[in-house]
Amino acid sequence: MAVTTSLVTFLPAKSPCLPSVHSSLFSFSKKSSFCIKDKSFSLLHQTSLPAFPHYVSLGHRASTSRRICRVQAMAAEGSDVKIVLVTGAGGRTGRLAYERLKQRPEQFVARGLVRTEEGKAAIGGDDDDGLFVGDITKPESLKPAIAGIDALIILTSAVPKPKPGFDPSTGGRPDFYFPGGTPEEVDWIGQKAQIDAAKAAGVKQIVLIGSMGGTDEANPLNKLGNGNILIWKRKAEQYLADSGVPYTIIRAGGLQDKDGGVRELLVGVNDEILKTEQRTISRADVAEVAIQALLIEEAKNKALDLASKAEGEGTPTTDFKALFSSVTTRF
Ligand SMILES: NC(=O)c1ccc[n+]([C@@H]2O[C@H](COP(=O)([O-])OP(=O)(O)OC[C@H]3O[C@@H](n4cnc5c(N)ncnc54)[C@H](OP(=O)(O)O)[C@@H]3O)[C@@H](O)[C@H]2O)c1
Repeated sequence: MAVTTSLVTFLPAKSPCLPSVHSSLFSFSKKSSFCIKDKSFSLLHQTSLPAFPHYVSLGHRASTSRRICRVQAMAAEGSDVKIVLVTGAGGRTGRLAYERLKQRPEQFVARGLVRTEEGKAAIGGDDDDGLFVGDITKPESLKPAIAGIDALIILTSAVPKPKPGFDPSTGGRPDFYFPGGTPEEVDWIGQKAQIDAAKAAGVKQIVLIGSMGGTDEANPLNKLGNGNILIWKRKAEQYLADSGVPYTIIRAGGLQDKDGGVRELLVGVNDEILKTEQRTISRADVAEVAIQALLIEEAKNKALDLASKAEGEGTPTTDFKALFSSVTTRF
C-alpha cells in the first residue's frame, strides 16, 4: 500500500497568511471551516510534503497553542480522516469510544463532549484539546463541539440513582430518581437537540446508542423513577431514523464493564435477544461497534439489537462488515 505523509493542520481561519498558502500549495476541503472551542478554524489538507516554509511556520505556531489542534497523520493516500464527536464522553461507554477514536489518528480526529468542567477534569481532560464542555439540553452549548464534524456518536443518557437515604443493608428496593436530568429531558429533548444540531451542521452520519427493551412499554426499566426511560429513548431513535441523516441505531443489552474483543457478538431485532440467556454486552464492545459503524457502509440506515455470547463460547467477532450486513432492519 502506497503511504504518503498526510499532514492535517487546524489553523485560525482568519490567519493573514492563509490566502497565499492556499493559492500556491493547498486546497480547502469541504470541511474547511469549523470551530474548535470558541475559535474559528480552517482545515488544510496536504497530500504531499515538499518544503513549505509558510506551512511549516504556521504549523509550528499552531503546535504552541493549547487551543489549536495539530494533527499529523500517516495515512494511506486518498484516505479520509473523519472528525468524530462522542457525546457522553465522560460516561462509561462514551469514554471508551472517545479513547478508542484517539488511538486511531490515521482514521479519526476525536472530539468528546462532557457536561461540566468537573467532568472534563475527572477524565484527565484539562490538557485535552479534543474535549468540549456542553449540555445537550442547551443547544447553543453544543455548537462549538459539533461544528465541522463528519460524524456523531451519541452516548448520553439519563442515569437513574437511588434516592438519598436508602440503606441497602435493610433489604428491599430503593426508589430511583434522575438527578442529572429526567429521561424526557436527556433521552428525548437532549438527544433530539444533538440530532438537530448535527443535521444543521451537515453531519454525514449519526450513531445512537440506545437500549434493548423499547418494544415493551411495560418493561420494568420504564418504572424507574417513573421516568419511562425506554419510551423516551425509543422516541429519539425514531426521530433519528426520520431525520434524513444517515444513521445507525445500536440497542445494547445489559452493559458490563468487561474486556472487549473477546466475545462473539449477536445482533437481533425487536428485542428477541431479551428472551434468551445472552442479553448482555461489554461496554468496550459497544464502543467498538459504534466506531465500526462509521467505517462500514453496510451499517448505515440500520437499527440493531446488540448482545454477545459468553466469553469462551463461540468465536470472537472480527468481521464487522458481516455483522452489519446480517442486519436488514431500518428501525
Ligand atoms: N446500563 C445499561 O445496562 C444499559 C443497557 C443498555 C443500553 N444502555 C445505554 O448505553 C449508553 C451508555 O451507557 P453507560 O452506562 O455507559 O453511560 P453512562 O456512564 O450512564 O453515561 C451517560 C453520560 O451521559 C451524560 N449526560 C447526561 N445528561 C447530559 C447532559 N444534559 N449533557 C451532557 N451530557 C449528559 C452523563 O454526564 P454526567 O457524567 O455529567 O452526568 C454521562 O457521562 C446509554 O445510552 C445507556 O442508556 C445502558
